[in-house]
Amino acid sequence: MNEFSENNPFNISNQKVSATCPSNIALIKYWGKYEPQIPANPSISYTLNHCKTNTEMEFLVDEKFSVQTFLSGNEEPKFAQKIEKYFQKIEEYLPWILKGKYIIKTENTFPHSSGIASSASGFGAIAKCLMNLDEQFSGKTNEDFKLKKASFLARLGSGSACRSLYEGLVVWGKTEEVAESSDLFAVQYPNEEIHPIFKSFNDWVLLIHEGEKSVSSTVGHGLMNTNPYAQRRFQEAHENFKTIKSILKNGDLQEFIKLVEHEALTLHAMMMMSEPAFILMKTGTLQVINKIWEFRKETNLPLFFTLDAGANVHLLFPENSDSEKIQEFIVKELLQFTQNNGVVKDVMRF
Ligand code: PMV
Repeated sequence: MNEFSENNPFNISNQKVSATCPSNIALIKYWGKYEPQIPANPSISYTLNHCKTNTEMEFLVDEKFSVQTFLSGNEEPKFAQKIEKYFQKIEEYLPWILKGKYIIKTENTFPHSSGIASSASGFGAIAKCLMNLDEQFSGKTNEDFKLKKASFLARLGSGSACRSLYEGLVVWGKTEEVAESSDLFAVQYPNEEIHPIFKSFNDWVLLIHEGEKSVSSTVGHGLMNTNPYAQRRFQEAHENFKTIKSILKNGDLQEFIKLVEHEALTLHAMMMMSEPAFILMKTGTLQVINKIWEFRKETNLPLFFTLDAGANVHLLFPENSDSEKIQEFIVKELLQFTQNNGVVKDVMRF
C-alpha cells in the first residue's frame, strides 16, 4: 500500500482518450534495479521535444479484459501481451483496469527502426491515457497528483519512462541532493537551480545502427546483479549528483561535458564487464566519439556526446553563436558513420 493504491468506488463507461509523451535522454544513467522496479541509483535526464509517442486508447466496458495494440496502423500482438501483463500488475492502483477491453493505437514521431528507445515515450503516453480514464471513472481531478501518479505508473512499465512525464531536467531515484526525489516516481529538477546555458540545448541523434538491439535493457539491468563493479558504480552515480548539482548552478560547460561523457562510457563499460559480457556500441559509435574528441581539441567548440543502451550517438551542444559551426561539422564529418544518413534533430524541452 502507498499513496497511489486505490479502493474508492468508480463508475466505468465506454471511453476514448488520447495522450502524447516525449522521449528523454539520461545524463546520469540508471542501470541496475531491484524489485519492484526500484532504481539502484538516482538518474537525471533531459526531456526531448520532437521525439514523441502519440497514443489513443479506447476502453470498451462490456467486454472481457483484453488488449489489442496497433503501431502506426499495424497490429502488434507482442506489444499487446506486454501491455496485458502490465495492466494486471497495476490493478492495485487502478481497480477498474481489468474490467474491459482496450484498443490502443500508437505512433512515434521518430522512425520505429531507428533504435531510439520508444519505451519511455510509449509507457509515458499509456500511463497518461490511463490517468485520463481514471479521471473519468473516479471523478477525481487533481492535475499535480494525476501527473505524479502517471509518472509512478509509467515507471512500472519501463523505469526511465517515469522521467518523460515532466519537462526540462528530471530526476528519478532518491538522492539527498534533490528535495522530494523518490524511487517511486520522477520529479522536475528545480528550474531556478539551472544556469541558462543548459536551458537551450540541442540533441541530434545519429542513427548508427537501425534495428533491434542484441541485448534488451531488461537483461542488461539484470546483469548488474552479478557485476563485481556494480556497487562502486551505484556509489559513483550518487557522487555524480553532487557534482552535476553545482555544474548546473554555475554553468560550467567544460565540467558538464566531462561528467556526461564519463557517464555514457561508464554505462557501456558496465556492459563490457557483465558476465556474460556484451557490447552495444558499433564501429561507427567509436568512430564518431573519436571524431568528436578531435574536433573539440582542434576548435574548443562544445560538441559532446551521450549514449543510451544502444549504438546511436546523442550529439549534445548548446544553442548559441557556435551551433552553426558545430552543425556544419556534424553534417560534413559525422553523418558518414550513420546507416542511412540518419539523424533525428531534437532540442530539449523546457
Ligand atoms: O527504462 P529502461 O529499463 O529501458 O532502462 C533505460 C536505461 C538507460 O536508458 C540506459 C539509462 C537511463 O537512465 O535512461
